Amino acid sequence: MKPQVWALALLTLTPACRRPATPEVAVQRRALSPLEATDLDPAPDVLRVQLTAARLPQGQPYLYAYEGQNPGPTLRAKLGDTLQVELTNQLEDATTIHWHGLHVPFDMDGVAWMREPVGPGQTMTYRFVLNQVGTFWYHPHFNTAQQVEGGLYGFLVVEDPTQPVADEELLLVFDAESEPSVGHSASGHGKIVTKWRVNGQPRPTYTATGGRTVRARLLNASNAGYLALSAEQLRVIAHDQGLLAQPESPAVLVLGPGDRAELELSIGAEGFTLQALPYSLNGGLAYGPPVPVLDVAVNAPAPAPAPLSWAFTGAPPRPDPGQTDLLYAFAGSDRTQTWLINGERFPNVTIESLPVGQGAVIEVRNLSSTEHPFHLHGMSFEILSVNGEAPAFRRVEDTLNLKIRDVVRLYVEPTEVGDWMAHCHILPHAEDGMMTVLRVSP
Ligand code: C2O
Ligand code: CU
Repeated sequence: MKPQVWALALLTLTPACRRPATPEVAVQRRALSPLEATDLDPAPDVLRVQLTAARLPQGQPYLYAYEGQNPGPTLRAKLGDTLQVELTNQLEDATTIHWHGLHVPFDMDGVAWMREPVGPGQTMTYRFVLNQVGTFWYHPHFNTAQQVEGGLYGFLVVEDPTQPVADEELLLVFDAESEPSVGHSASGHGKIVTKWRVNGQPRPTYTATGGRTVRARLLNASNAGYLALSAEQLRVIAHDQGLLAQPESPAVLVLGPGDRAELELSIGAEGFTLQALPYSLNGGLAYGPPVPVLDVAVNAPAPAPAPLSWAFTGAPPRPDPGQTDLLYAFAGSDRTQTWLINGERFPNVTIESLPVGQGAVIEVRNLSSTEHPFHLHGMSFEILSVNGEAPAFRRVEDTLNLKIRDVVRLYVEPTEVGDWMAHCHILPHAEDGMMTVLRVSP
């Protein structure tokens, strides 16, 4: 936003935002989206970035940060670009970077499986071509629960130059507010969160200009917290892997840990508030009041613009080919702190394999009495059905929440050879064993 615009914002707040407008608020507003990384490479199709992971000084709300920022710098590139990230590890612990949602070569995936992590004081260069469009994110995949809880994560946005450009982009990382303590039990299990931080701030205000379109990209980076968002009207244009086949207007948008979505906000005359609703992880009723997490204020009220002309395809879902190539059954219990896939606990798992370049069906069943977000590395999946019902439109994801007793059938077409992690993105569950390895063989 230009300085004049946010000065104007101070004068013309609508009654929807009742909090006092102070200069501090204006500064926060201008900086609400996480800062974007500086590109060190002059070539237009290369994004070269340095990321240093380090401990923050005491008294900060987070323990660790990339480049001293929470959330970490946003990496923004376009389809076909080469991303080069030079990681310097200044933690006392080993670390890695995992590119959540991207089909990268296996040695770039940032897992400490068949690969050494990056030790304290060491560096590592990640370099690969961005072949997918969407809102992705990066985070460590070594002592993952502790390091992500500590604040190590950021957005990776890959733009499609053929798509319309919104007047403004708003990037929102949701994280549960909790003690900056580390370790296992402190991170909690799948849980209901009543205190959210949005880009590190409790209930920030975003000021938009009437008559303009804002593309909001949302990420739930919390270790275990479920976010059930509602607003007067939600227009969801994209999930994990770019544009949807059709836009959706759900009453509630549920983002489990690791999940993303994009909203198109047509700003009119009135501001509004995004609320986090109570949510039950056990299929029962959810209790508690809605919690406001973000206020959108409007300056210069104007008629709301018409939606942009996104290239929605309206594509129907792929018909289920009928066979099941792989079956994953999720089970376990918080009481025993044991979480299993097919009765096995990572790393003592049977490695199933699929041939590269061939379509396959994975069926995932949740046999436990709580929900789990299923995440697969190295490939994304199309949803064939949830409990026998095909989605209304083609839907491709890399992270999918399973409610209790859900049976989901997923279609994959792996393009990269490697040993890909398949796990629950409730990070304490993954660390308590709910993780396995899917080998894609040449
Ligand atoms: Cu977001 Cu295995 O990770
Ligand atoms: Cu889980």
